[in-house]
Amino acid sequence: MNAPDLQTVAIDLADRSYHIAIRGSLFDNPLSYAELPKAHFALIVSNTVVGPLYAQRLQKALSAQYAQVFTVILPDGEAHKTWESLNLIFDALLANGCDRKTVLFALGGGVVGDMTGFAAASYMRGVPFVQVPTSLLAQVDSSVGGKTAINHPLGKNMIGAFYQPLKVVCDLNTLKTLPERELVAGLAEVIKYGPIADMDFLAWLEANMTALLAREPTALAHVVKRSCEIKAWVVGQDERESGLRAILNFGHTFGHAIEAGMGYGNWLHGEAVGAGMVMAAHLSLRLGLVDMFFVKRLSILIEKAGLPVKAPVLCSTDNAARYLELMRLDKKSEAGEIKFVVLDGPGRAKVQAAPDHMVRQVIDLCCSKSLLIQ
Ligand code: NAD
Ligand code: GLY
Repeated sequence: MNAPDLQTVAIDLADRSYHIAIRGSLFDNPLSYAELPKAHFALIVSNTVVGPLYAQRLQKALSAQYAQVFTVILPDGEAHKTWESLNLIFDALLANGCDRKTVLFALGGGVVGDMTGFAAASYMRGVPFVQVPTSLLAQVDSSVGGKTAINHPLGKNMIGAFYQPLKVVCDLNTLKTLPERELVAGLAEVIKYGPIADMDFLAWLEANMTALLAREPTALAHVVKRSCEIKAWVVGQDERESGLRAILNFGHTFGHAIEAGMGYGNWLHGEAVGAGMVMAAHLSLRLGLVDMFFVKRLSILIEKAGLPVKAPVLCSTDNAARYLELMRLDKKSEAGEIKFVVLDGPGRAKVQAAPDHMVRQVIDLCCSKSLLIQ
């Protein structure tokens, strides 16, 4: 089978506009970076898993363009999305005398991408950066749109900034080394685009899930491109999440509670979003916004992807209270009132509050062994 051709998706944000390039054999090709502004220094930020696989090849490609290319390797994983890791980036920048034109390159999944973006937003009050996402989740979501952050022990992604990259280079070949569990986790952020924005895409995913799980190159190229197009459409209208952009967080209010409640890194972000989408769909059902047929259809797709559909019990005494406590810390909450992304009919979403007793019913159902999908 022929390798997919180069595809590009534009993010239209006035003077902060940029392109996402999507294909195999891109990240180690100097031409991928040729249009970037000239600078003396570049810093590759990666981690202990992705760095040994790809950092040297990226360093070689960047050497065509930058006189000095340094690499900093962070500890791997969500549990290290912290001030300590962020400081390692600043340490590397300062120790190497990097000036304010230095370009940062985020080589890794969403954790490296979010931290590198935040470091770029704040080093010398802002230096340029490029996303080179290597996980499916990062290629379809986190590398696009300029949300950057680290976690706080009391809440996920609580400290950060909106800061757009200069370019996103999605090399589909890097997905070949992604562990199976991470590929599946990335599919959660792919699936979410269907119910919130594109029912044709949802139907395509239902028909092509087996090809995706087998990493069929044209199937992967299609999901990365279509996901980036939908995200570009949303971000282009609402860069700083004053309204519409919140729909991209479908399943995330419940999902973030699962991630924090289970301890960061125990449930992967995508796994938590998988179960979170089932919970958000059940809440939408109770609010009279979708029917049971649609909730089942979505749950079956999530399960087919290999994602959890049953939510974990976070507390043996009052589980629902623990979920509610964690969800009140969500960034969408206002004066302690939790706001959920709910489906407003198939293919549309909106943000709204829901009575606590209704949310408790959803939590009880979705954490229960008797949650029936089929
Ligand atoms: P991750 O960055 O932890 O990557 C997952 C695992 O796969 C890690 O162990 C990583 O080292 C490894 N990995 C990545 N690419 C690899 C490759 N090609 N080969 C082998 N191993 C590879 O997690 P993630 O799922 O990529 O991202 C999750 C993070 O993204 C969360 O912190 C989440 O909050 C954030 N996120 C941000 C946004 C945003 O808009 N900024 C959107 C969604 C998620
Ligand atoms: N992943 C949610 C957002 O970018 O807004």
